[in-house]
Parts: sequence; structure tokens; C-alpha cells
Amino acid sequence: MVVPNISFSYTGVYEKSYMRKKAAQALEELFAAALKENYRLYGVSAYRSYERQEQIYKNNVRKKGEEKANQVSALPGSSEHQTGLAIDVSCSSVNCDLEESFGRTQEGKWLKKNCHRFGFIIRYPHWRERVTGYSYEPWHIRYVGKNLAKYLYQKKLTLEEYYQQTTIEEKVESDPISDVDDIQLENEPEMTAAPTPRVTEAPVTATPGSSKSHTQTAAPKQTKAPKQTKEPEDSENTEDETTDSEETAAPEQTKKPEETGKPVVTKKPAVTEEPATANPQEDTEPEEASEEEN
Ligand code: DAL
Ligand code: ZN
Repeated sequence: MVVPNISFSYTGVYEKSYMRKKAAQALEELFAAALKENYRLYGVSAYRSYERQEQIYKNNVRKKGEEKANQVSALPGSSEHQTGLAIDVSCSSVNCDLEESFGRTQEGKWLKKNCHRFGFIIRYPHWRERVTGYSYEPWHIRYVGKNLAKYLYQKKLTLEEYYQQTTIEEKVESDPISDVDDIQLENEPEMTAAPTPRVTEAPVTATPGSSKSHTQTAAPKQTKAPKQTKEPEDSENTEDETTDSEETAAPEQTKKPEETGKPVVTKKPAVTEEPATANPQEDTEPEEASEEEN
């Protein structure tokens, strides 16, 4: 697991900042390509532990009821976020929220049209809600490798349809989603043991954009990290506060960023231009996610 060298919608580095290495590299290329065309995307929520997903799911049940919760969040143990291969992304014109309107933004449209070139798919399209079982999520992209992503995009297929309907002869030669140094079994149990990423003190920005980005070890490598009271909110960050435990193992953080209230730009090419309208929540008390979020 590594922190992709991209712009995030929040300050600091948390469990949710991490992705599998192969996906992180592809994501960097995707974000850079978007930026080249002046579309600035932000990472909002990537890896989640089982415990984290459980908090999100339970909170959604509490707020929306079980039926609705099941349409917008996966049961703990079955979220793609737990694989490290999925990430929620957004843009400043929708305040980096995870909402359907992201799909109507220039950035959302660009993402839909281009993410397959980098090995990602829009995992929960509006035209297949019944097939995927989840509401439309224009922000949730899942890494499947370039061959399969291109195939699914061209055939307008979901992953479910691909696995259920495609014959062996039709199956795409998948690109490996792991490479040799992506598999470090001894690290995996440690990562799942990572504490939930609620922070208790003003988050300070790690430097995922540095050349160390791809050699960084996973969050659990740290020792007593600064106590943190709050994580910048993303729309899926709706866990019950009473369940929070002390944060003890946040990734090593080296530098306090300027706190502008705007999406934090960790990728070098992005620092020259800040979004004019974004104002994701930072360093403020957590707010309840609205019904539209998730
Ligand atoms: N929101 C998606 C379905 C998840 O919880 O993984
Ligand atoms: Zn997601």
C-alpha cells in the first residue's frame, strides 16, 4: 500500500489515503492526464479497513435505514475500498463532495470517458443499478487493469456482467493487478490492523508527493503518532463518534500545510493552481453527511 502522488481533498495522510501500488501508479497517470487538459481531480477516499467500512455502513443504517444503506454502502467485508483498488474522486465545483452532480461536471465527464485508458472503471453506473446493486456513483473508480477496463468501457459492461455472461473465450487477458513488489504479505496484516483514521489534532501533511511515494510502507508502521481528533470529512466518513478510538498510528507526517480550506494539493504540478470554489471540510467539527451524500 502506498499513498498516490495526487491532490487530495483534505490535509494530512490517513488510512483512506492509501492504495495498492499498481492502482496508485495508474491513478497518478490518470490525474496527471486530466490535469493536462485542465481537469483537476481530487482523491477523497481510497483504502478502508473492515472496521472503517463497518462504521460507515452502520452509520448509514442509523441515518437512512437498512434498505437505503444497502444501496449506497457495502457491507463490511464486501467493499471494494477494502481491496485498496478503489478510490472515490471528486472536484472543486461540487466542493469535493461525493454526489451524483459530480457526474455532470466537466471533470466527472472526463473521468467517465477516460478512466479506462488508465485501467479504471466507473464501477457503479446509473444504467446498471439493478445489476451492481448500488446506486449510481460517478465518483467511485475501481482499478481492473487496462485491458479489462477498455473492454468493459467499449462493451458497456459492469464487472458483474463480465463475470456472469462472458464466456471463457471472450475473457480478456487481464493485466496483473499486482506486480512482484506489490505483494508483501508481511505488510498486509499490519495494514488491516491500522486504526480508524479519525484524527485528533490538526492534521499535518505528509509528503506523499515525494519520490518516496512508492516505497512508503503502510500506515501501521508508525509508532505513537500524534493524537488526532478528527479526520477531514468525506461523505462516507459518517461513523458514529462514540466508536472512535484513539488514533495511534497515523502515517508519518512531516510538514504542516497551509490551511486554506481548499483541497490540498500534494502533487507538484498541481500546486500552481488552486481551485476557486472548493472548500472541503477541514479542521472543523465533523458534520453529519447529508442524505444526498455517499
Ligand atoms: N459505496 C460503495 C458501494 C462502498 O461502500 O464500497
Ligand atoms: Zn467508493
